[in-house]
Parts: sequence; structure tokens; C-alpha cells
Amino acid sequence: MSFPSLEALAIEVAECRKCRLADTRKSVVFGEGNPEANLMVIGEAPGADEDASGRPFVGRSGQLLTKILQAVEFSREEVFIANIVKCRPPENRNPLQDEITCCTPWLEKQLEIISPKVILLLGKVAANTIFSNQTALGAMRGKVLEWRGVDCFVTYHPAALLRNPNWKRACWEDVQLMRHHYDNLMKKSRA
Ligand code: URA
Repeated sequence: MSFPSLEALAIEVAECRKCRLADTRKSVVFGEGNPEANLMVIGEAPGADEDASGRPFVGRSGQLLTKILQAVEFSREEVFIANIVKCRPPENRNPLQDEITCCTPWLEKQLEIISPKVILLLGKVAANTIFSNQTALGAMRGKVLEWRGVDCFVTYHPAALLRNPNWKRACWEDVQLMRHHYDNLMKKSRA
């Protein structure tokens, strides 16, 4: 089925029962932001706060993500924020491979509709899923990577930064690099 709009896709995703997470979720967390965003931010999976509210990145990690974006002059409203998996894994465990496999077609459709120029991947699960690899996060961050013609940047997941504040500097460098690249792309597309 092709989805002309994010709204139509969201209605379909809200009814998804393709994996076991449908049995325990309170909400399907589709994602939110600008449907025409040039930057898409992709996390791993909703936590308890996101499951309760139906919105992505609203708990402690989310507050940190908002600050990280603001530090490089992006508002949450101008980007689109989504997750690899749309339903909360119980006890905040990592999503299982079969759950990721069921859910990634939804993310791919979101990416098709939004068609961002740049993607920021938060954490190893998001990056390994997008690139279909098992590469360590350290080997993927700090550079531009390409996925289906879109420029991607990888950085630490905000939850990891809350556990290891020493990684904040590296994250700052990653998002600055992403911001410079984004600005250059926008300049070129206006020229
Ligand atoms: N962590 C994620 O990866 N996504 C959320 O939406 C919240 C926490």
C-alpha cells in the first residue's frame, strides 16, 4: 500500500499488531515533528513515559535530546523525531531482532514520505538497524555515512549520555559536525 501522507500512515501504524509488543503497549509512538523536515532524528524504542503519552522522547532522555538539538539550533518542531520500534519493549529491554524486522517497514515509509536530507541516528540499535550491520558505535560516529542517498550521522543515545556524562563532549562534536554539514547542504540546495 502506498501512503500519500504521514497522517494516513499514522492511522495504519496505530493498528499494527505485527509483533508481541502490541500486547503490552499502551500507545503506538509514531513520532512527531515537521512532516517536511530536512532533519530526521531516529532513536531506539519508546520508554515508559513515551508509552504513556504516545509521544517520542518525552522522558529524561527526551529532555536531554531537546537540549542537544537546541545546542545546535534545531527546535523539536522543525525536525521529525521517530524510533526504530514504535511500541515499548517491556521493562525497557532492547527491542528483539524480530520486533525490529516487523517495525522497520513503518520507519522506511516515514522516511519515504518525509524524505529528509540528513538523518541523525541515536545509539547503536538505530545505527545497526539502518545500516544492517553490527559495527560498534565508536566506528560509525564522527563522520558522514550514506543510506539510500541520504547523509547520516551517528551519535550516542541520550540515555547512554545520562549514564556516562563523559561521552557528552563526543556527542557535542557529532552534532556540531552534523549541523555544519546540514547548513552546507541547505546552502547548496538554495544556490
Ligand atoms: N528512548 C528512545 O530511543 N526513544 C524514545 O522515544 C525515548 C527513549
